[in-house]
Amino acid sequence: MDTNKRPDNMLRITTTELANAFIDEQVAAVREQVGDKKVLLALSGGVDSSVVAALLIKAIGKQLVCVHVNHGLMRKGESEQVIEVFQNQLDANLVYIDATDRFLDLLKDVADPEKKRKIIGGEFIKVFDEEARKLENIDFLAQGTIYPDILESDGVKAHHNVGGLPEDMQFELVEPVKLLYKDEVRVVGRALGLPESMVDRQPFPGPGLGVRCLGAITRDRLNALREADAILREEFDNAGLNKTVWQYFIAVPDVKSVGVKDSKRYEGWPAIIRAVNTTDAMSATIEEIPYELLHKITARITAEVEGINRVLYDLTPKPIGTIEWE
Ligand code: XMP
Repeated sequence: MDTNKRPDNMLRITTTELANAFIDEQVAAVREQVGDKKVLLALSGGVDSSVVAALLIKAIGKQLVCVHVNHGLMRKGESEQVIEVFQNQLDANLVYIDATDRFLDLLKDVADPEKKRKIIGGEFIKVFDEEARKLENIDFLAQGTIYPDILESDGVKAHHNVGGLPEDMQFELVEPVKLLYKDEVRVVGRALGLPESMVDRQPFPGPGLGVRCLGAITRDRLNALREADAILREEFDNAGLNKTVWQYFIAVPDVKSVGVKDSKRYEGWPAIIRAVNTTDAMSATIEEIPYELLHKITARITAEVEGINRVLYDLTPKPIGTIEWE
């Protein structure tokens, strides 16, 4: 039997009952596969790895070792949420590594988007590998592979999956949600008790804010981006747009313009709002955002975020614009 093929008669998991049945089945399967051995998981805090973590904690408890690498390119509050949910609430075996300086030092003065991606991906594997080597008796590697990843194996996730570990660091894989579609992963996550804000999270690129802080990343501009993005998310949440808009974020280019603040010249970067709807990310349309809300977001970002003096709204559909700015 091809274990990478979803059986034709497999029901779509849409209810808590179906999710619970799936969870029971997978808990038994994982226990059977792993026995009393240890499993390693790179926990990004994204939907897929979080659901796998919660499932494995239920199945094997502290035999699961989660490693969360903070590359310094996370959105505001994300690494904190990983620690809160997995360490404090679920009592997981969590190794938290703040590798911000390593990543930002390597990225200094690098403006080319592909080079930035390569540096981030390569360094991620290095940090993860170093941590894995410190641990003893790990036989398995868990991954949040989902069915679309199998169907389009060169899909968007190819960049950041841990597939690139060195030859001598190959483990047997544990991939409990590999036959599920994204909506099913979310239903399972909810049934496992993960918070809505984690289960409903938008897609977020592996290289994180690195693809939204355009050109060579500096700490001050990255910080401005992170704060502006947090305001955008808060305002979209308050307006209920988090339920209708597929993906929304801020990009900050490496360009300054003249402005005026407190009657003085104030040079700053523009914050660009991107808010798109799509089903498969292959093409995307632009969400109509009420002007009133856009004005409010503009007022807040320009008043609250150091370094930003303009807010722009990107009206470009995909194609021709990709969703990310890179
Ligand atoms: P683009 O910019 O190509 O993005 O229109 C399409 C979708 O893919 C997301 N994206 C990524 N997702 N790892 C991911 O898991 C990545 O490296 C990556 N890069 C882009 C992007 O956010 C959008 O949803």
